[in-house]
Amino acid sequence: MTANDRPVQPVNVPENWAPDSWRSRKATQQPVYPDADALAQVQGELSRLPPLVTSWEILALKKQIADAQDGKRFVLQGGDCAESFSDCESGLISNRLKVLLQMSLVLVHGLRLPVVRIGRFAGQYAKPRSADSESKDGVTLPSYRGDFINQPEFTQDARTPDPRRMVKGHARSAMTMNFVRALVDGGFADLHHPEYWDLGWVGHSPLSDEYHRMVAAVGDAVKFMETIAGESLHNLNRADFYTSHEALLLPYEEALTRQVPRQWGWFNLGTHFPWIGMRTADINDAHVEYFRGLRNPIAVKVGPSATPEQLLQLIDTLNPDNEPGRLSLIQRMGAAKVADKLPALLAAVQREGRRVLWICDPMHGNTEGTSNGYKTRRFDNIRSELEQSFDLHAAAGSRLGGVHLELTGENVTECLGGARELTEVDLERAYLSTVDPRLNYEQSLEIAMLIVRKRSAQQASLAG
Ligand code: PEP
Ligand code: CO
Repeated sequence: MTANDRPVQPVNVPENWAPDSWRSRKATQQPVYPDADALAQVQGELSRLPPLVTSWEILALKKQIADAQDGKRFVLQGGDCAESFSDCESGLISNRLKVLLQMSLVLVHGLRLPVVRIGRFAGQYAKPRSADSESKDGVTLPSYRGDFINQPEFTQDARTPDPRRMVKGHARSAMTMNFVRALVDGGFADLHHPEYWDLGWVGHSPLSDEYHRMVAAVGDAVKFMETIAGESLHNLNRADFYTSHEALLLPYEEALTRQVPRQWGWFNLGTHFPWIGMRTADINDAHVEYFRGLRNPIAVKVGPSATPEQLLQLIDTLNPDNEPGRLSLIQRMGAAKVADKLPALLAAVQREGRRVLWICDPMHGNTEGTSNGYKTRRFDNIRSELEQSFDLHAAAGSRLGGVHLELTGENVTECLGGARELTEVDLERAYLSTVDPRLNYEQSLEIAMLIVRKRSAQQASLAG
């Protein structure tokens, strides 16, 4: 969709909603800013800064998510658990892009479906925490809530929430977006040159043969198509990338919520696809109130404690018109609970005919501690939750239309297992995350391959 053919619709803003109506509700997981005037000043400044995305990109993504609901596309959403300001650098951003491009190539090739690529980046700077404060040696300080809010070092100064960090985060998000857009528009994502996405250290990966066979097959297919067409296929030169983050820090999100000419309603122009985290998804609370008024496609995390009744109420509030592409449910149950908890939710959504896109986050229900003090996730549990989810959806007559992963293009050792069979001792080598453990490049690629295998096996058993 271009700027010129934007649909004009009657004003249809949800009732009694405004970008700040969340303020009348209980807002959980918010920092306490010591200086209210400084906060108000920052919000004013942010609300005048240019947006990071446009309404027509947002509506184009909504359409693609609607297609994914109908089984015509598959969603790949991934990136860091939390971005940090110091990680806003070219190598880290382009490596993350490379992994996502490689995974999407594997998925496109194996699933025979276009893939919707959504990064967890350009604004993933605020984190929910299990406690508001942290104590060490008799000193109690506010918890680290992400770079948007404060700093991880355990000092009074570093931990005091500073609203100016939102302005810095907005700028880092804009730099990240700018670089991603420039790479993608400049031919980095060109299917004629998948070697651009090779990561230096992966030559000896156990998966590289399989991956390179696939790349060669895609290259042959491209050449074949171009021979038939008698010309170069230019639309293979670029790929669309969308952005997402947990819209947790409401003063920031409110300041980026805008109206645009010739469009009705309100858009969050800080990201294409904001989501509500599991801890802030209470129907009466501020986050649900804020999200219900947005025209963006939105998502909500659904954990093992959600009941079918709660889920249906949440769907009623967030997508009252049953609009296609509007609402995605990111299920994150854990490998041990998914078979017990998911079927009743799927049955309720199916029974009531609610249009949603189900996306599986096999990371957040599978976090555990190790004996040597690391927060980790076992590749086998991640894989198991994903595979069980495909089966549970199939058994319910539902569709799993996407995957949501925490990953990086770096050679980290944060999750156990995978093709290289990383052990607890390996975690000591390259554990870099300040929050949740991420899949490294190889583990990410392996997940893409196993999604393809699982889907192919399902389709073969249907056909047989
Ligand atoms: C996250 O996605 O990093 C996160 C905190 O997830 P959840 O809300 O599902 O716990
Ligand atoms: Co996380």
